[in-house]
Amino acid sequence: MPRAARPTVPASPHKPFQPLALLPEERAPRLQQLCGKVAACTRCQELAETRTQTVFGVGNPNARILFVGEAPGADEDKQGEPFVGRAGQLLNDIIAACRMKREDIYICNILRCRPPGNRQPSPEEAGNCREFLDGQIAIVNPEYIVCWGATAARNLLSSEDNISKMRGRFFQYGPAKVLCTYHPSYLLRNPAAKKDVWEDMKFLFKDMGIDLTGKS
Ligand code: URA
Repeated sequence: MPRAARPTVPASPHKPFQPLALLPEERAPRLQQLCGKVAACTRCQELAETRTQTVFGVGNPNARILFVGEAPGADEDKQGEPFVGRAGQLLNDIIAACRMKREDIYICNILRCRPPGNRQPSPEEAGNCREFLDGQIAIVNPEYIVCWGATAARNLLSSEDNISKMRGRFFQYGPAKVLCTYHPSYLLRNPAAKKDVWEDMKFLFKDMGIDLTGKS
């Protein structure tokens, strides 16, 4: 069933990011600079003491789409790259189904350090890391942001809604349109929800001028 267009929801109470006026070739060095700052961060004492390394972000510094996940897990903490474990494999499959490559997108998380035992980020940790998330978004200046899961959606948009309620519409965050959908880890536990994520991807890509209909 095609989804009826719903109006874009205006910006959240959090001061939305201001895109930086950068040339395409200036974005990668600016991200590199910010990555160095993140690597030295000790704002969250527990995370700084327990991490193997920080997990900054990866992908195209000039991407049209930026993905936001929750936080690094054990695999990401080991490899220093977001979404490289089982959830990451599924995310790669979703990207491929959308006829994109992982390298086309910019991928990061609410947190840049692994919470011990993969617990959820605390509000304080998310707040400490927000400057870095907004910094990455401001440098990449994407047209679209996809929040994977409730932690990403609620933190980015300062919302308390359930993810199922946040799906199916665009939110506005600065100049970017934000789509919220289920986290790949949730899909691993609930494969029946994959069809909902596919609807969300078709909704996103249609707005980008790319028709994914007929593919699944
Ligand atoms: N889950 C996330 O939300 N982010 C990652 O980087 C890996 C798993």
